[in-house]
Amino acid sequence: MLIGMTACLTLLLLLAALPYTASVLDAAWWSSIAQLSTANLLAGAETKSTCLTLSGLSPGQARICELFKDHMPVVGEGAKQALHECEHQFRNERWNCSKPPGSDLVGPIHKLGTREAAFTYSIVSAGVSHEIGRSCRLGVLQSCGCSTAERPQGVDTQWNWGGCGDNVDYGYRFARDFIDVREKEDGFPKRSADRGRSLMNRWNNEVGRKLLKRHTRPKCKCHGVSGSCNMKTCWMQLPSMRQMGNLLANKYRAARRIQINARGNMQVVSQPEKRDQVSRTKGGDRQSRRKSRALQTELVYLDDSPDYCAADRSAGTLGTQGRVCRRGSNGADSCDLLCCGRGYNTYTKEMQSKCNCKFQWCCKVVCQTCLNTTQVDICK
Ligand SMILES: *[C@@H]1O[C@H](CO)[C@@H](O)[C@H](O)[C@H]1NC(C)=O
Ligand SMILES: *[C@@H]1O[C@H](CO)[C@@H](O)[C@H](O)[C@H]1NC(C)=O
Repeated sequence: MLIGMTACLTLLLLLAALPYTASVLDAAWWSSIAQLSTANLLAGAETKSTCLTLSGLSPGQARICELFKDHMPVVGEGAKQALHECEHQFRNERWNCSKPPGSDLVGPIHKLGTREAAFTYSIVSAGVSHEIGRSCRLGVLQSCGCSTAERPQGVDTQWNWGGCGDNVDYGYRFARDFIDVREKEDGFPKRSADRGRSLMNRWNNEVGRKLLKRHTRPKCKCHGVSGSCNMKTCWMQLPSMRQMGNLLANKYRAARRIQINARGNMQVVSQPEKRDQVSRTKGGDRQSRRKSRALQTELVYLDDSPDYCAADRSAGTLGTQGRVCRRGSNGADSCDLLCCGRGYNTYTKEMQSKCNCKFQWCCKVVCQTCLNTTQVDICK
């Protein structure tokens, strides 16, 4: 089935000869699909063109959507969970992963190839792989089921292998085919800014999926007579999206700046003394190959980030006016940093909370209501 699918997608790529001029700078593809629900997809089932009406999908994505309709709400859910995790990871930063103001989009858009774009693409890609892999295990997708991964080394042979596991391999492949296809439909001239962006996106998409796969681990559960652990069943389990968020946030901080060289390949911007290649070019000495292997799970970016201080509609940035900051903090949420030196206003907020709770026989807890006032600092 999987081989069939891949062949099918390859064919689709060949068929996707229509000139695809919508650029990577369009509103993010995940926006419309994250708003998709099973209900509206089924409602459009007879007209057969729902996928074509989803704005933001590339022609290749629309074709895959037609073929794997049941996957689409799952893709949307995966993207949504990823963006939710993105908001969590960046809740205290100037850039907080939110959608542009007044738009009906879901999630941020990135006109520049910044670190923030790198993070967003990688986590959405991981999120989609994650949700597809999980849904395979749950049996809600027609073309996949539980993981058929072999018993990994390190899982004791006494234990049962083959509990129904998350199908990370299928999730990985589907996400790769569906998400990356838009980056291959370009036909951009080499060295153009869009081609660089497209290479960057593909790279970061792959980092998200690869890390998800790498952190999918065997998990075991005991069963046996009266709580003894003389039987164990083990299966493959995906990491949580929180784990992925933490992991990718570290990668974000360590992201590497790249440029596109004369041959149209990605290249890490050289530090003063050394140059190392990210590209998959043949040859090169052993050391640079080792380096490029190490780079395979690093996020890469092309452009410096703006400071995200001011709202800029055309750049899709929100600015930090109105954000809650913390006076005592020495992190990114300190009023100095978050408000970009503009200062802040302090408000007194009244909050009701339960207090002085007492247990009353039998069986309830009775509380009083207390009024607390707290001070809230808001960026000017
Ligand atoms: C992010 O910042 C914007 C603008 O400052 C604010 O409106 C929005 O609620 C924030 N989002 C989250 C998830 O905190
Ligand atoms: C409100 O004040 C009381 C007493 O000072 C305290 O125990 C409680 O934790 C406070 N609640 C909140 C929500 O800050």
